[in-house]
Amino acid sequence: MIYKSLLIRLSYLVLCLFLSFSAFAQPSADAGKTLFRNYCASCHNRDMKSDMTGPALGGVTERWADYPESDLYAWIRNSSALISSGHPRANEIFNQFNKVQMTPFPNLTDDDIASLLLYIQGTFDGTYGAPVAGAGAAGAGQQAAEGTGGIFAGKAFYYIIFGFLVILALVLARVLNRLKYLTELQAGVETTGPRSLWATLTSKGMIGIIIFAVIVLGGYFTVNSAISLNRMQEYQPDQPIKFSHATHAGLHKIDCQYCHDGARRSKSSIIPATNTCMNCHKAIKVGSTYGTAELTKIYASIGFDPSKDTYIENYDQLSEEDIKKVYTSWIANQYVLDNGKLDRKGELMMEEQWDGIKESLTSDIKPQIQGPIEWIRLHNLPDHVYFNHSQHVNVGEIACQQCHGKVEEMKVVKQYAPLSMGWCINCHRETEVKFSDNPYYMSYAKYHEEIKEGTRSGVTVEEIGGLECQKCHY
Ligand code: HEC
Ligand code: HEC
Ligand code: HEC
Ligand code: HEC
Ligand code: HEC
Ligand code: HEC
Repeated sequence: MIYKSLLIRLSYLVLCLFLSFSAFAQPSADAGKTLFRNYCASCHNRDMKSDMTGPALGGVTERWADYPESDLYAWIRNSSALISSGHPRANEIFNQFNKVQMTPFPNLTDDDIASLLLYIQGTFDGTYGAPVAGAGAAGAGQQAAEGTGGIFAGKAFYYIIFGFLVILALVLARVLNRLKYLTELQAGVETTGPRSLWATLTSKGMIGIIIFAVIVLGGYFTVNSAISLNRMQEYQPDQPIKFSHATHAGLHKIDCQYCHDGARRSKSSIIPATNTCMNCHKAIKVGSTYGTAELTKIYASIGFDPSKDTYIENYDQLSEEDIKKVYTSWIANQYVLDNGKLDRKGELMMEEQWDGIKESLTSDIKPQIQGPIEWIRLHNLPDHVYFNHSQHVNVGEIACQQCHGKVEEMKVVKQYAPLSMGWCINCHRETEVKFSDNPYYMSYAKYHEEIKEGTRSGVTVEEIGGLECQKCHY
């Protein structure tokens, strides 16, 4: 009996090892490239050799070699925290760069940062993305080198260990079997002889273990892909109107909350109604990029006649033909020649633009032109999750950009954060709440005392209960 349970435990160990290896994605330069492009390339040069807003990153691990590796990770997640802790390298580079502050990235995991560093180093020394030389000794040598690098760096390494452990388990099982046989012989018990390898493999215990393994592995992959099914990081659909955040929030510096005025006071940030657009576009009627085309969509949706500066009466009852007349003549106005005639280009543009406007504003769901603009929603948490903007923006004083990225540089918005549970939790673990000056937290007397005594520097969201399931789940 003891042998059998030993065998089961051994196989279990092998299984656990395999699971723990496969459960974690490996850091890779490829993953690093995507992360770099999304988060870092706006300030750090892609060649890793010259400065931009931020310094050239090539060789950065060497510059931080005098400090524990975790310091560099801490820098990337939150450079200002490291600077204010008095860290020598952090202060050196901060002062060198005219005290420009780097964006914090609290949501990057260790693997993410390892991937970034792999990509940065690889690009700097030219080993990443270098074309493999064709025929000849040099090429073969390089390929061989890459091959071994691959085995020890990638998943293959773990598969080899796994294979080795399986063989080891089988050998040990056989040894145990022999020992069992010998003790039985010695004790004079009647026995059927040592079991063959096949008999071991097909014994009840072994089959049980194999079935168990298949269920666990299968379950793991099914659940994993089911969970990420609805995640849409990087989602960037085309919108019915070419509305650019880069123009509005970037170039013209319109405050995010001028349009998304829900963020400060309510759960939802709210997409602005067409009336908000009209506050400006009643006057700004011709754009420098698309001419009248995109702006006319706003007017067609709300029923504003830009040539007369009035709202059209009973607009929702007009036929498509009547609406077309209003807006094609408005578009045509832009192409009238000095002699009062429409030029040829204008005629073509008129029809073309009208078709475009109609196409954008009508959809399968709502086949008419009049009515609210149907913006396509990007962010969408599942129904069982509770998220509140004002809690984060107003009470937590978190910048929109920390969760939505640099929207003011996006011509077309995209979903920047994964919106996974891990993402929320990670930030709650690492972010400190604005504690001392917020009356909301008067009830946490113990923390206040500790801060006063100097035994505590801050309170994270986790410490006020930000990891409790019912806070985020209905
Ligand atoms: C908003 C611009 C900006 C973005 C985005 C940005 N950085 Fe930086 N980074 C800087 C600046 C500026 C510095 C110089 C130090 C300072 O002034 O804070 C810096 C410094 C660094 C340093 C220290 C370099 C050294 O030689 O010690 C590292 C490492 C670094 N950044 C990594 C990253 C990574 C990785 C990302 C993407 C995840 C990133 N940065 C995104 C602006 C940025
Ligand atoms: C002039 C008005 C205006 C301003 C200013 C503005 N936005 Fe928007 N925002 C919109 C409109 C309209 C949409 C919907 C169309 C789209 O997705 O492009 C939108 C969409 C978004 C979305 C995607 C919402 C979704 O569907 O999930 C985010 C995130 C966002 N804005 C963040 C910001 C941030 C951050 C700022 C400030 C840097 C900002 N916005 C400034 C009008 C504005
Ligand atoms: C606070 C003022 C303001 C608000 C509010 C505003 N815009 Fe604009 N918008 C501008 C300015 C300024 C421009 C740049 C005009 C130019 O191109 O010369 C612009 C440009 C545009 C353009 C590009 C026009 C072109 O051809 O270059 C579009 C499309 C547009 N806005 C749509 C919208 C929509 C949709 C809304 C409502 C969600 C909106 N705007 C709200 C000020 C505003
Ligand atoms: C702590 C992270 C966080 C911060 C800070 C944040 N958002 Fe959001 N935002 C989210 C999440 C999560 C969603 C998805 C909400 C959902 O699906 O219920 C979202 C959704 C949105 C939407 C889509 C409409 C909605 O409310 O569901 C807009 C627009 C938006 N955010 C704009 C902003 C603006 C503007 C700011 C800054 C004033 C901001 N957000 C700050 C996390 C954040
Ligand atoms: C960028 C960091 C950040 C991210 C990402 C983030 N949060 Fe938060 N969250 C905070 C901070 C800071 C507070 C504390 C605000 C305050 O002072 O009350 C908070 C508070 C909360 C609270 C109230 C907790 C309490 O104890 O009162 C809930 C609920 C919450 N967050 C849900 C979410 C959900 C759901 C997500 C993911 C969709 C999320 N948060 C993502 C930073 C974040
Ligand atoms: C800070 C907010 C937050 C807290 C705290 C939190 N969750 Fe979640 N949880 C989320 C978000 C956001 C999702 C949606 C993830 C997605 O759509 O991928 C989620 C999804 C889930 C799911 C569905 C499976 C999945 O990953 O999509 C389960 C089950 C779950 N949470 C259980 C829990 C339990 C149990 C706890 C307490 C130990 C907890 N959650 C605490 C934010 C939170």
